[in-house]
Amino acid sequence: MYILIKNGRVIDRASGIDGIMDVLIRDSVIEKVAERIEERNYMDVRVIDAGGCFVMPGFIDMHVHLRDPGFTYKETIATGSKAAAKGGFTVICPMPNTKPVTDNPEIVSEIIKRALTESPITILPVGAVTIGQQGREVTDIKGMTESGICAISEDGKSVMNSNLYREAMKIAGECGIPVLAHCEDINLVAGGVMNMGDRSRQMGFRGISNAVEDIIAARDILLAKETGTALHLCHCSTEDSVRMIKEAKEEGLPVSGEVCPHHFTLSTDDIRENDGNYKMNPPLRSRKDVEALRQGLRDGIMDVISTDHAPHGREEKARGFEGAPFGIVGLETAAALTYTELVLQGYLTPMQMVEKMSYNPARILGIDSGTLLEGKMADVVIFNPEKEYVINAEEFISKGHNTPFHGRAVKGAVEYTIHHGKVVFPFSE
Ligand code: DOR
Ligand code: ZN
Ligand code: ZN
Repeated sequence: MYILIKNGRVIDRASGIDGIMDVLIRDSVIEKVAERIEERNYMDVRVIDAGGCFVMPGFIDMHVHLRDPGFTYKETIATGSKAAAKGGFTVICPMPNTKPVTDNPEIVSEIIKRALTESPITILPVGAVTIGQQGREVTDIKGMTESGICAISEDGKSVMNSNLYREAMKIAGECGIPVLAHCEDINLVAGGVMNMGDRSRQMGFRGISNAVEDIIAARDILLAKETGTALHLCHCSTEDSVRMIKEAKEEGLPVSGEVCPHHFTLSTDDIRENDGNYKMNPPLRSRKDVEALRQGLRDGIMDVISTDHAPHGREEKARGFEGAPFGIVGLETAAALTYTELVLQGYLTPMQMVEKMSYNPARILGIDSGTLLEGKMADVVIFNPEKEYVINAEEFISKGHNTPFHGRAVKGAVEYTIHHGKVVFPFSE
């Protein structure tokens, strides 16, 4: 069985291709990428016309929350992975802050096993750093690696005990997996719910200063230097995070960084009322921080765009800044926001979009993905850069409708997602 994708603008960082080409998929593998591939030379071939569209390696989201097991009213492996397929993702990495926490090899195996039947795309779990995310005892990182985790993370919080964290980083290094760092000094947060600044004072809420993030980012970079372990800073939101990653890279340290669409699109100025859909951790920051993140992505300092897809229930998010949980959904809006806010505004080329959403995540995770090279697994997204529409949260496949982007006009839509040679979006197929 063949799929022939014709007339699209093929953009692939690994091969350096950016041009109008055809892509031939045979069963689950990329068979050929060439200027003209004739349909009549193949039997049993389905032709997809990608004229006017970008043909890119399937997106990889290194940072999602699937809430399964434990909080399945918010999301499940099935609904989250389906939302991901709609968003153009062919690989997603769920964080371990589920109930129970992903903190041992058996749970990892269980998630991977369930994903095979419940998910249309690849799921690579992230293991916790400490047992139960309690910050007291390091997990069986070696065992979890053998079971298939792609990284460790304590996401949702930081491991405040630096000695314990260093120990875990050393083991992760021995296992050849990166550490994904949520940077938040919990003592410094002191009950803050939004960025510390004019808005928090005006609205009367306790603030979260940039130092909450920056202090732990600095510590983690120093520990990466000491251990030699690959460190990836999650959801960077401050200008100093960008600066520290730049300096770390100049020093040759194994450090990378990610930015989420909400952090490069919105600032505290966009928060109009006491709406829980603008509450996430780290919080929306100042316009100066937003500009630093955009420039960091442009200049290659920030490597990855990930969503931190964090679904929550409607009633939970209706409680405003004080009462709502942190987090917003992102899988179904990430590609359009990246294209609209960064590519159309001149911060990223389409090739850089591929780099941040496919190539770099694969490289950082050390997985054989994120490319359209011949012989590789056929994970492909066909993205229409001309389609204009207004984001409608009610149309989300995700169980979470918690987004500040409802009603926002964007350009760019995923037309097809192909995972291992199978069309997984549109769903009707
Ligand atoms: O906004 C967030 N939501 N930040 C986190 O670190 C955790 C996440 C969640 O699990 O809801
Ligand atoms: Zn986090
Ligand atoms: Zn997260």
